Formats: sequence, structure tokens, C-alpha cells
Amino acid sequence: MCGIVGYVGWRGAQEVLVNGLRRLEYRGYDSAGVAVVDGKGGLEVHRAAGPLDNLVAVLPEDGAVGSVSGSSAALRATTGMGHTRWATHGPPTDRNAHPHRDATGKVAVVHNGIIENFAALRAELEAEGVELASDTDTEVAAHLVARAFSADPDGGLTAAVRATVARLEGAFTLVFTHADRPDEIVAARRSSPLVVGVGQGEMFVASDVAAFIDHTRDAVELGQDQVVTLTADGAVVTDFHGETARTRPFHVDWDIAAAEKGGHDFFMLKEIEEQPASLADTLRGHLVDGRVVLDEQRLSDQELRDIDKVFVVACGTAYHAGLLAKYAIEHWCRIPVEVEVASEFRYRDPVLDRSTLVVAISQSGETADTLEAVRHAREQKARVLAICNTNGAQIPRESDAVLYTHAGPEVGVAATKTFTAQVIACYLVGLALAQTFGTKYADEVAREYAELESSADAVARVLEAVVEPTRALARDLAPSKAVLFLGRHVGFPVALEGALKLKELAYMHAEGFAAGELKHGPIALIEQDLPVVVVMPSPKGRAILHQKLLSNIREIQARGARTIVVAEEGDETVRPFAEHLIEVPAVSTLLQPLVASIPLQVFAAEVARARGYDVDKPRNLAKSVTVE
Ligand code: AGP
Ligand code: GLU
Repeated sequence: MCGIVGYVGWRGAQEVLVNGLRRLEYRGYDSAGVAVVDGKGGLEVHRAAGPLDNLVAVLPEDGAVGSVSGSSAALRATTGMGHTRWATHGPPTDRNAHPHRDATGKVAVVHNGIIENFAALRAELEAEGVELASDTDTEVAAHLVARAFSADPDGGLTAAVRATVARLEGAFTLVFTHADRPDEIVAARRSSPLVVGVGQGEMFVASDVAAFIDHTRDAVELGQDQVVTLTADGAVVTDFHGETARTRPFHVDWDIAAAEKGGHDFFMLKEIEEQPASLADTLRGHLVDGRVVLDEQRLSDQELRDIDKVFVVACGTAYHAGLLAKYAIEHWCRIPVEVEVASEFRYRDPVLDRSTLVVAISQSGETADTLEAVRHAREQKARVLAICNTNGAQIPRESDAVLYTHAGPEVGVAATKTFTAQVIACYLVGLALAQTFGTKYADEVAREYAELESSADAVARVLEAVVEPTRALARDLAPSKAVLFLGRHVGFPVALEGALKLKELAYMHAEGFAAGELKHGPIALIEQDLPVVVVMPSPKGRAILHQKLLSNIREIQARGARTIVVAEEGDETVRPFAEHLIEVPAVSTLLQPLVASIPLQVFAAEVARARGYDVDKPRNLAKSVTVE
């Protein structure tokens, strides 16, 4: 999890690091810290539990922004690194905040991930008399680098880092600095993200380009098991054995304004409103000469035609998008599709072979559960297609085909615009498969594609009509103890997603159910004044299901529930049974989840706000879950 930023150059490092951390706070906010080195052998570390502002409050101040004058190393230094933590080992306290130091205080390290063999390494260090100052798995790395550096000072920090990472197991991005090497920082990467930013006389390293995009848009992505040594003049990248390594330079083409709040109180609210654009951007350019094309395709048509089964693997919100993929792919391709949470997938030994396609959905492209599911699938020779929002992230890199959701950066921890973009991307994948399998003619594919294109307008209309009334409703219901969500067919994943949003943002008990399951247990939960949100199918498109849901509403109303109904415009039959009716435009069945999920996003955000919670940074969560 966690955000890392490192800097070597000519600016005041402290300010660069704090600004970078501000952009990375979505990755973790248990604590924050910076370490800076000045040219006089001073290594200064400042850390504080809690959000970044707690760190800022304890940092040395200098009136002049960006100044490199001042009395402490922190203000003179032009080299340093920072960290915002999502704790895995040890509680989120000051002493466990990164950077961690070795016993001499000369080496500092920040870390993203888990060092799985840390207990053995810790025992080894303690047996040598080293006293560890924190509960983290990370700290051992500082001691090991210090020891390796003393043993081979001529090899410099880079050799010491290589010697250390060779002993580490697990997933890690580590960045080191040494008081005796004030002009460089050294980073190593295995299974956690790291990008290098290339500036003029200055270099950056970070978990995400957002940390340095104010200073440069030229970036280099590090590969698996690589070490980079940064000085103000450039970067040298090697593998863990010191051999020169290949890297992938790229240019960041999104604007920083895209990652700012744009006048909203919270990123999430801005991101909800961006959905018409992100849907259109995700679709754009994927119908070429009448054929649906993916962004990357390393599978031949014949290899795809050999596919006889599809698994969709994903976590959380992405899993809900995956549930919708099943409806589209089975309907269009007549091929069996199973959807599974990625964390369960590989542990039950699924039946996979060359004729299995695994569709991995991940906004970040770095979710550990999904990444491991992808690796397991590939080991079993299955083909892997990734749907991802982050260009060049690990999951797409390890996949045979990729479709990117062009939703832009999503800062709010709760997925909103990336959910709807994932849904539309799943449908695109369904169409691409249908055309390859020959289950749809070109004109049918073009018609479906045009239908998908209409989703942006439909979502824009929902935003115009429902945001304000839904906010008012949310404020009214904010004191409730629990909320239930019911849906059927494509409305079922919407109900699950509505409940997940409310749980994660408002810390409220919320459950989504398949409405048909109501009488098999959940109806016992219904009590006087319990709010129940019902996602109605279309009375025209799904008349039979609509009837059944109407009966369900009557059943819960008879037991005293408050009914909040999301229904198609013009659905008059439901009106008498809805204490609160949220009308969304009439769209095709597969597009209904896109319009119906918008009010539920707004609802969750507003309940959280009314309860006084930070909508963008819900407690205990982080945007990217890079540990299993
Ligand atoms: C949902 O609001 C959460 N952010 C979470 O469920 C998320 O969708 C999940 O952790 C998967 O993340 P990914 O798409 O980056 O893999
Ligand atoms: N495992 C380290 C810790 O608990 C790093 C966690 C992170 O990635 O933030 O401090």
C-alpha cells in the first residue's frame, strides 16, 4: 500500500517531498514521514502518526518557500525521501512511521509492501546485538544496508542495497538514503510499483507519477527486480545482480488538474461527476473498421477462438463490475463465465488450461490478490486479459491482452468513475469476444457499440436530475443504523455495490441481496423504519422481474421498512410503493447498472459527509491494496 517519493536535485527536498506525499496520501494515511540528507553529513528524519498534516505540523519551517537556506538539514537538503504509510506490521504510531533508520542513524529507508522473512532477519540482527526501534518488517532493511555498506564502502550505497534485497523475500519497493552519500538515493523494486521522474538537473522516484507531475512529465517505469540509483544528473538502472536492465520510458499525458478537486469538497464528488467523460473516453477509439479492438493484444484470433471458458477475477468494486461482465459475455458469446473474488481464486485450485480466458479487472493494476490470481492463471497456461485504469501497472504487464479504462486518476478511495468505466470495458471485451467467436455479426457489434456510446449521455442526465434530491434523502437517512439494498439480474451487482459504498464510506451496516433471496433469510432483518433501497428492473425490458420486485417491495413495506426505489422514468406502477422514488433514464438492460449506480454513489458520499467522515479517506482503507 503506502506512497513513496524520493528526490535528488536542486530544490528544497522537504517541500518537494511533502507536496509529493500530498498526492500520494490516497495510498495510505496511517502515518507520514520524511528523511533528508544535506551535504554536511546530516540525515534528518521527521515522522508523525496520522494524516500528512500531523507531519507538516512537526517539520522545521522556513519562511521562504523552496529555500535551501536555513539552520537544519531539513531546510538545506536537496536530497531526501518521504512515505505515507498503510500499516501491515506494527500499529500506526510515531515509532512505526517510516523512514526507519539503522543503529548509527546514517541509513534511512522507506518501504511499500511486506518483507515476509523479516522475523528471521530480525532474529539474526538481534543475535548480533542490534536493537530494533520499531515493530515493522521494514526496519531490518536499514540495518542490513548499513552493515553491507560498512563491509564494502567502495561499492557505495547501490552495492549495499543489492546485497540486501538479495536476502529479502516478499513484495517490496524500498528507497534508501545514506548520510555519507548525500547526492544519491537508491531504490529497489519487487512486485510493488515504482516510477522514476526525469527532470532538468533533478530526479524523482515515486509510487505514482502524481507525486512529481508538477515538476516533470517524463517518466521511466521500473521493471520487476530492478535497482535504480538516482543522482541529480540521471538514473542508472540494473537488475538485482548489477546487470544493466531494460526500462520503459513514457510521457505522462494527463493533466494535474485531473487530479485536483475541481471546486468540490472531496475528490469523490468530482469523480462521480466525471463519469460521462470517463465512459466516453473508455469507449473512444475501440471500434476500428467495424471491429472492436483492445489496447494491447498478444493473443491470436485462433488462440481466442480456442477459449471455451471464462473466469473473471477481481476484488471489491471491480468484482461487482465483473459480475456484470458475466451477463454480457454469456449473453453475447454463449460461453460459460464464472466470476470470483481474486483472493479465493488460486487457493481452490481452479480448473484452468490454454482454453481458459481469465479476465482480471483492477483499477490500480497492482492489487496483490488480483495479481497473484493472474500469475496463478498464467502458470496453468490460461490466457489473461486485463482491464485496468493504470497504464503499465503490473497486472497489465503480466497479461496477454489489455483494455484500459480511461477514467483518469481516481483519488477518492471509494471507486466510482472507475467502476462504471470497468463495466463498459467488460461489455467491450464481451463484444470483442463475440466478434472473434462469430456469435455476433459486424453490424450487430456496431449496434451494441453505439448503444454503449449512449451511456455517457444517460449518465449525464442522471447526474443532472438526481444528485440534489439524493443528497437531501441521504441527510435524512444518515442517522439510520443499517440500510439494505435489493436488486435482481443486473440490478443485483448494483445492490452489492451500493452496500459496499455505504459500508466503506459511512461505516454503516449495509448489505446487498439478490431480491429473490429475501424470503430465504434476509427478510428477518426488516423492521420498522429500516431503509431498504430497491433497484427496479425496467417494466418494459424485464416485465416479469419487475412484477416480482414489486411483490418484494410490498412484502418489506408491510413489515414497516422505508422504501427507496431506483426505477426507470415513467414507471408509474412502482410509485405508490416508493416512499422515495429515484428516477433514472430508460436504457437497455445492460446499461441500467450504469445509471442506477450513480444515485447510490451520491447517497453513500452524502451519508458519510452528514456523519462527519472524510469521504476521500475512509478509515482503515487505502486505495491500492498491494498486500494479500
Ligand atoms: C471500492 O470502493 C474500493 N476502492 C475497493 O473495493 C477496490 O475496488 C478494490 O480494492 C479493488 O481495487 P483495484 O480495482 O485497484 O484492483
Ligand atoms: N510493511 C510496512 C509497514 O507495516 C510497509 C507498509 C506499507 O506498504 O505502507 O510499515
